[in-house]
Amino acid sequence: MTCSILTGGAWGDEGKGKCITYFCKNDNPSIIARAGVGPNAGHSVEFNGEKYGLRLIPSGFVNTDSELLVGAGVLVDPEVLFHEFDYLKKYDVKSRTLIDGRCAIIKPEHRERDKHSDYLSNKIGSTGSGCGPANSDRVLRIADLAKDIPELEEYITDVSLKVNDTIDEGNDVFIEGSQGFALSLYYGTYPFVTSKDTCASTFAADVGVGPTKVDEVISVFKSYITRVGEGPFPTEISQEEAAEKGIEEYGVVTGRRRRVGLFDYDLAKESCRINGTTQIALTCVDKLYDCAGITDYSLLPADAKEFINKIQTATGVPVTIISTGPDLKETIDLRDELL
Ligand code: GTP
Ligand code: IMP
Ligand code: MG
Repeated sequence: MTCSILTGGAWGDEGKGKCITYFCKNDNPSIIARAGVGPNAGHSVEFNGEKYGLRLIPSGFVNTDSELLVGAGVLVDPEVLFHEFDYLKKYDVKSRTLIDGRCAIIKPEHRERDKHSDYLSNKIGSTGSGCGPANSDRVLRIADLAKDIPELEEYITDVSLKVNDTIDEGNDVFIEGSQGFALSLYYGTYPFVTSKDTCASTFAADVGVGPTKVDEVISVFKSYITRVGEGPFPTEISQEEAAEKGIEEYGVVTGRRRRVGLFDYDLAKESCRINGTTQIALTCVDKLYDCAGITDYSLLPADAKEFINKIQTATGVPVTIISTGPDLKETIDLRDELL
């Protein structure tokens, strides 16, 4: 039995989508539970030559044997949920997804408040998905809950009960977080953060699991750093330099150009400490080093190995997954050797 939580190591967009898909296809958990803020997330999933951009449904959906749950801590926008049911019809997502009755609801009014607030939209650079205003209504205790929305009735369950029962029966549960450590309302670059904590302990709380039930915390880092929206970014490089290195990026939800920077060892160390990280998954190594598609650690170039060792030394955490391309097959999995 393993209960794992996956977290973003930096400012989101670390490639969690690919890593979650890899873990869920490979390890076949009974339950994949979505934690994190809500549909401000944008995960990219590439599978069997197709590419999906997701905001709410768990990114592990490609494993059609798993039940998909959305934990009570997550904000649900019914429009996004129904859109993704339709979008992912091929994977029979609608019949496998249940949401906790205690999820708070994002209404069109929350999206409007988000987009039309000069502070949120321009100063913070929010995603405009309504998460900040909806979480604020939740704190004020005036938000609607999923259990009170008639159109959601058939999808309502007690996620905490299901997850804990599954763990107690000896089966695997995979909890996928969203956003990233440096966007945490508590530990990130406040006020340029999202509307909630984004660390492993909160993801456990989001799905109603106590800390004693969690076995593994996997933090995903990209080999360089990107940030969308405003706020401090100590290792930022210019757009010209990013273009030269071939690491320019655009956001999945907003289409905004991402700011780009070099790997930040100090940030990684703090992120692993506060998340209690037990394993690091490192993505996009192929974008910095000549190793696209390599699946054998011994074949990695020396400079890539040196980079990986430096991350392990700085954080004290083993790098168990090394991603060398978007496809699931383009993955080096060292878990058998390192754990
Ligand atoms: P999260 O927000 O963390 O889920 O990240 P994301 O999945 O949204 O990542 P993003 O939108 O930045 O998309 C990353 C893109 O890079 C997607 O098309 C992924 O399939 C792809 N990708 C993921 N890992 C790797 C990798 O190791 N190498 C390369 N070349 N591409 C990758
Ligand atoms: P909000 O969560 O939409 O309020 O946005 C607040 C800040 O968090 C902005 O800088 C967003 O760009 C950032 N943010 C929120 N979710 C994500 C994400 O999934 N990836 C990257 N940045 C995010
Ligand atoms: Mg993303």
